[in-house]
Amino acid sequence: MALDLEAKKVLLRKIPHGLFICGVSEGGEVNGFTASWVTQGSFEPPLVVMAVRREGSSHGIIERTKLFSLNFLRADQKDLAAVFFKPQKALGGRFEAAPFVLGEFGLPLLEDCIGGIECGLVDQVSVGDHTVFVAAVVSASIQKDCEALDLASTGWSYGG
Ligand SMILES: Cc1cc2nc3c(=O)[nH]c(=O)nc-3n(C[C@H](O)[C@H](O)[C@H](O)COP(=O)(O)O)c2cc1C
Repeated sequence: MALDLEAKKVLLRKIPHGLFICGVSEGGEVNGFTASWVTQGSFEPPLVVMAVRREGSSHGIIERTKLFSLNFLRADQKDLAAVFFKPQKALGGRFEAAPFVLGEFGLPLLEDCIGGIECGLVDQVSVGDHTVFVAAVVSASIQKDCEALDLASTGWSYGG
């Protein structure tokens, strides 16, 4: 029987998602984009799993550098999440809206958000239009522990 595309869409959109700013860095340049396809993958070692669009500018940077950061947005930072999925004039331009520092592993960590982690790639699955990256959490810093932004609260959808 053929896959019921409408049912697939309705059901997959019910998977709860957070909203994060993924940061990357290569050759002194940084970039960042909004990511929602993020989850945990293991207690020990602590792993995260993130799916990244193959066509995006950050995809190749993650493959080459084997590093990325994840910045955890507060519930009131929807506007910032929007900045980081819109087209930008030049690589890294979105960070004009959001000051950052470089973390211990050289990755962009936003100065104003809940906190951020830096992650080192351990494996990847490259089958579909997104690559599933599996990465170990190698640093973590918190600025202010509070309610996080989630996809459902924004009215946006990604995938399904
Ligand atoms: C709500 C929402 C969630 C998104 N989640 C992801 C995601 O999990 N992975 C991804 O690769 N792109 C995701 N995107 C798309 C990227 O943010 C977008 O393609 C961005 O322009 C990529 O930037 P880059 O080409 O500079 O890397 C999402 C977009 C929106 C609107």
